[in-house]
Amino acid sequence: MTASDFILNNYNNSKLNSGTFTWKTPSNIALVKYWGKREPQLPENASISFTLDACFTVTTLEYKLKNHKSKLASDSNNEILKQVQHDDTGYNFDIYFEGEKKDEFKPKIETFFNRIVEYVPFLKELDFVIDSRNSFPHSSGIASSASGMSALALCIMSIEKELNPTITEEYFNKKASFLARLGSGSACRSIEGELIVWGKHVEIPDSSDLFGIQFPYKVHENFKNYHDTILLVDEGEKQVSSTVGHKLMYNHPFSQQRFEQANNHLSELTEVLKTGDLSSFIRIVESEALSLHAMMMTSNPYFILMKPNTLKIIHKIWKFREETGSHICFTLDAGANVHVLFPEIEKIAINNFIINELIQYCQENHYICDRIGIGAKLISNN
Ligand code: PMV
Repeated sequence: MTASDFILNNYNNSKLNSGTFTWKTPSNIALVKYWGKREPQLPENASISFTLDACFTVTTLEYKLKNHKSKLASDSNNEILKQVQHDDTGYNFDIYFEGEKKDEFKPKIETFFNRIVEYVPFLKELDFVIDSRNSFPHSSGIASSASGMSALALCIMSIEKELNPTITEEYFNKKASFLARLGSGSACRSIEGELIVWGKHVEIPDSSDLFGIQFPYKVHENFKNYHDTILLVDEGEKQVSSTVGHKLMYNHPFSQQRFEQANNHLSELTEVLKTGDLSSFIRIVESEALSLHAMMMTSNPYFILMKPNTLKIIHKIWKFREETGSHICFTLDAGANVHVLFPEIEKIAINNFIINELIQYCQENHYICDRIGIGAKLISNN
C-alpha cells in the first residue's frame, strides 16, 4: 500500500452532520525501539511493541458541520464574509484534558490536522470539541502521545466511516494507524494488540513504514498475559522531548549501526516470539533499552534520561535473576521509568520482589501494574 491509498476521494458531504464518538486507546511499550525518523514521520528502522492494557486514553470527539459555508460560497464580494471565509480554511476546535480547557494543546493538534487533512479533507468542514483523559497521571513520565494520538485518529476514522460505511475493518485500522503515525510515530502501534510491528522488515510480510501491523506469526504461550509493571522513578516532565531525540539521530556517529542493530534484533525476536525462548527475549529486550539510552548519551549534544534509581532498579533485577533463575527483565522508554517485564507464570514471586525491593526507588512508591492488551475499543457512538 502507498500513502495515496489513504486519500478519501469523492465523499458525499451531505452525510456529514453532527455526532460524537468515544474511543479508548492503549499505550504501548516497544521491545525493539524506534529512535530516528525521516519525513513524514517514517521510521529509520522497524520496531515492535507490546500493546498495553491499564495505561490508556479515552477521547470523545464531538463534531458538527460548520454552518456558514454555502452562504460564503455564494457571496464572494462581501468583505466581512470574505474574512469569515478566510477563517473557514482553518480548523475550528476546542480541546479539554481531564475536564479543563487546554488551549496550550492546540498547536500540536493543529500540526496533526495539517499533516492528515490531505487524507481526511472533511476536517475543514467541521467544528470539533475534543475531550480527553488518561488512566495514568499526566506527569507520570508515561508518554501520552501514543494513546492520545491514536484515540484521536480513531475518532476521525469513525467520522470517515459515517461517510463511507462500506470500508472494511482492516482498512479502518490501517488508516487509523497511518493517521496516528502522523501525530506521533509510536502512536501507530496503539490501534490493535497484542504485538505490533511498525516499519518495513524483510522477515515480516506486509510490514510497512506507513502503519503498524499485527505480528503475523503465532506467538508462543510463554508470552500470553505478559506483565509490564511500570516503576515511576521520575514523574516530572522529560528534559529532552522525543522529537528532539529523534532529530539528534540525523548526525549521530552510530546511527547506521543502530538502525541495523534494531532490524537484526527484530529478526531474532521474531524467532523468539515463535519459540518462547525467554532467555533470548531478555537479552534482546534489555539490549534494546540500553542501546536506546546509549544513543542519547552519544548524541551531540548528549543527554541522560536515566536517574540513579533507574540504575539501582536495573542492578536489583539482574541480581534477582542471577539468584533465582527468574525470567524477569526490564525495558526503558525515553525517560527514567523502568518497565519490568515478566511471564504470567512467575507473577507471584516477581510481584513480591517488586513490592519488597523495587518500589522503594519509585517516586512516592508509585507504580502501575500493566500487562499485554488487545488494542483500542469504541466506547460510544452517537
Ligand atoms: O513516538 P515518539 O516520537 O514519541 O517516539 C517514541 C520513541 C520511543 O518510545 C523511545 C521508542 C518506541 O519505539 O516507542
